[in-house]
Amino acid sequence: MPDSSSPSPDQGFATRAIHAGHDFVGDTGAVSPPVWLTSTFEYGNPGGFDYTRSGNPNFRLLESALAAVESAQHATVFASGVSAMTAVVSGMKSGDVVVAEKNIYGCTYRLFDQVFGKFGVSIVYLDFNDPASMGQIAGHNPALVWMESPTNPNLKIIDIAVVAEAAHAVGAPLLVDNTFASSYLQRPLELGADLSLLSTTKYTNGHSDAVGGAVCVNDAAWHDKMIFAQKSLGLQPSPMGCWLTLRGLKTEAVRMERHCANALRFAEFLEDEGSAKVVLYPFLPSHPQYELAKRQMRGGSGIVTADFGLSLEQTHRFLESLRWFPKAESLGGIESLCCHPATMTHAPVPREQREEMGITDSLVRFSVGLEEVEDLIADVRDALGRVGG
Ligand SMILES: Cc1ncc(COP(=O)(O)O)c(C=O)c1O
Repeated sequence: MPDSSSPSPDQGFATRAIHAGHDFVGDTGAVSPPVWLTSTFEYGNPGGFDYTRSGNPNFRLLESALAAVESAQHATVFASGVSAMTAVVSGMKSGDVVVAEKNIYGCTYRLFDQVFGKFGVSIVYLDFNDPASMGQIAGHNPALVWMESPTNPNLKIIDIAVVAEAAHAVGAPLLVDNTFASSYLQRPLELGADLSLLSTTKYTNGHSDAVGGAVCVNDAAWHDKMIFAQKSLGLQPSPMGCWLTLRGLKTEAVRMERHCANALRFAEFLEDEGSAKVVLYPFLPSHPQYELAKRQMRGGSGIVTADFGLSLEQTHRFLESLRWFPKAESLGGIESLCCHPATMTHAPVPREQREEMGITDSLVRFSVGLEEVEDLIADVRDALGRVGG
């Protein structure tokens, strides 16, 4: 399969997203790839495919495009973001310790707490924005350091380069869950991370029609481990899911520009109108890590978290009376969504730890979509009026 049309790393994000890995064109001239709906491949084919659990042309196309946009040498795709996490941790052994930033996605917490813990892999949580925590990393002798930035759902921004330096000082690789930022807005490997993990379900796909995950790395040994996990643990995605995700990735640049513009305007409205007690958005000057966010990210992304100071019952009523924000798990699609982290995404985290993370019963998370932002603002205004907020 000739690959002469592949863009080089110095070409822009959108060019790489749209043109990477066009090896399918062959003798048909097709500008869009087919879906290779096949479970197996005849032995001896030039692509080296044997069985879809261990590889498929649709995986490869998405992997080359993801590697191109994440500035990575390699990307490996999985059935979900959680499958990607499972692939990474499957390479660890009993007695290994992971040091993680304490603001972490609820299902990541659950995976370590209820699954990996049983196999002897433990996790220690620190506040990575506390300068003392960088010195504490060494004391735990970690096999891996793990963080998100922005974090889910408090949108805490962590300095990736600083954490990478602290991790590398003790010989530990740094994994950054890049889901909330997206590849367009932030590239962890360029900032010193060793693994960039994506739930491609979110901004990569962008259309809420396929669940998927990916791990992007420069190191060939890590890549081998990911490929091994994909096939040996059965963590592979579907060819159709990869096709949809690749189609979504091609428009990531334009979608993210609009997500950022809408979310910033939406956050400014919440702050200026004074209806919310707390408004968190990385590109609002009031955000505690605003300067770092501006340095590390190309835009603030599409999530806005707010606390309206309502009771639990009023918060649910408010969310359920929104017209353009269905209350749903997930984020990063073209359509806006709202979520109540304490009872949804972070329900697996015990209340005490949740509150320690700042996830109170009155906290709400908006995934600001690509609708007309003034319609979204009017919707929130009306819904708050109905609950007396
Ligand atoms: C930050 C983050 N990482 C990983 C995941 C897991 O991804 P998936 O739902 O694709 O398994 C999610 C899902 O919401 C997430 O928010």
